[in-house]
Amino acid sequence: MEDTMKSQQPEESSSGFQISRRRFIKVVLGFFALLWGAVTTFPIFKYLTATSDETAGEEVASVSLGSADAIAKGTGKNFQFGHKPAIIYRDDAGDFHAFSAICTHLGCTVQFSQEKNNIWCACHGGQYDAASGKNIAGPPPKPLAPLNAAVVNGEVFVSRAPAAQSTDTDKVTEEIPG
Ligand code: FES
Repeated sequence: MEDTMKSQQPEESSSGFQISRRRFIKVVLGFFALLWGAVTTFPIFKYLTATSDETAGEEVASVSLGSADAIAKGTGKNFQFGHKPAIIYRDDAGDFHAFSAICTHLGCTVQFSQEKNNIWCACHGGQYDAASGKNIAGPPPKPLAPLNAAVVNGEVFVSRAPAAQSTDTDKVTEEIPG
């Protein structure tokens, strides 16, 4: 009788150990399956999130470029308008002119050239008048898309140009009294 119990106990113990081992393996496999799922779906999630962020960036109404004094006369600088590159130029009279910095040829980002005193595109040598954004040399087929630049209490703000101004307005600077 005692021998019978002794011989059964290890079997139960062994059986119980095997079950918990299977469960352990299932838990580990389940964990790795979840991890794999998270790793593979995360890029998709990020892609979808980035798309909606970009859409939101396109809807940016206005950005601040800080103090007007920080931009010297006769210079220009690139900045981000939402998720899009943009450029602002301050002429010798102190007026600001802002444009999309996307070249109208093949979409490279343009920049201000101190040497040429205009906006130029390094990709194929396209050039734009810094004050008007008009294409003046090289392959760009049309002017840069204008943005509206305004100085409020000494701070430069760039916003979307009204639709009516977006085709033929050269100077988009206005001084708003504070
Ligand atoms: S992309 Fe700018 S000149 Fe070609």
